Amino acid sequence: PIPVIIDCDTGVDDALALLFAVRHPGLDLRAVTCVAGNTDVDGVVRNTLTVLEIAGAGNVPVARGAERPLLEPARSARHVHGDDGMGDIPGLPAPTGTPVEADAVTLLRREILASPRPVTLIPTAPLTNIALLLRTHPEVAGNIERIVFMGGAVATGNATAVAEFNVWHDPEAAAILLTAGVPITMYGLDVFQRVVVPGTDVRRLRASAEPGARLAGELLAHRPSAPDPDGDDPHGGLGDAGAVCAVADPAGLTTELLPVEVSLAAGPTRGQTVVDRRPRPGESELHGDTRERQLVDVALDVDVDRYVKLYLGAVEGV
Ligand code: BDR
Ligand code: CA
Repeated sequence: PIPVIIDCDTGVDDALALLFAVRHPGLDLRAVTCVAGNTDVDGVVRNTLTVLEIAGAGNVPVARGAERPLLEPARSARHVHGDDGMGDIPGLPAPTGTPVEADAVTLLRREILASPRPVTLIPTAPLTNIALLLRTHPEVAGNIERIVFMGGAVATGNATAVAEFNVWHDPEAAAILLTAGVPITMYGLDVFQRVVVPGTDVRRLRASAEPGARLAGELLAHRPSAPDPDGDDPHGGLGDAGAVCAVADPAGLTTELLPVEVSLAAGPTRGQTVVDRRPRPGESELHGDTRERQLVDVALDVDVDRYVKLYLGAVEGV
């Protein structure tokens, strides 16, 4: 299996991502690190431990990371993820386990360097921990296969008109990631918002006798997507879990290698991922723009049915 580490801000859809990573036989979840984002970092740690324990993966090490972005204040997303940061689902148990003593950056370094195979990092949250890791321990880059992050957008944003929440929450951290020279896949809003589980599947999950599958159903029910074009069948978006699907099954994603930069300016573009989609043959046509920019595999299209099937197959164990 592919060794993976998830850096998250659990988070309704981060929880969906964790459930999938634990269950997919092609993935080996080595550690989970937590960062402030959807809720405060202690809430993220609590939610992450609870999800892993329900999924029967209480042995996966969990570490507490940054409690605020590099420059910005922490700004929670309670309006999306509820007061507890995970949908306020009734009856969720408090975790019995605790995070490891090491902080997130230390655990990331340790697990990356100890892995016999290069690790795939999957950040589904503001990129504060990842930026601190890359700056503090640049030697980890040698044992990172790829960083597949949920964040950014080619087109429209969600936190602002042009900025996606994870990048907008800590734009400087995202800029550090996007100039680190590590292979990167950007699983942005353009694909993130499209992978939606039909209502019939959500209802089946909610009725499951298996605790992990049932939790996935509850979480999906908390994430009704845009109004159902076929009527009033409620259904739910996989969100961050789609980025983990992209690691398990990269062929379901259509990407293009493009220059990406983060806007760090104050004002309406702050946190925007500026994706350069100009045709590139004959570089001289790029009037005036001669800066070196890192190329990123930007997700432009996704096979929705394939990822929904992949997700359900893993979480329901079929
Ligand atoms: C991202 O923001 C968070 O609210 C979600 O968990 C996801 O990672 C989407 O913009
Ligand atoms: Ca998230």
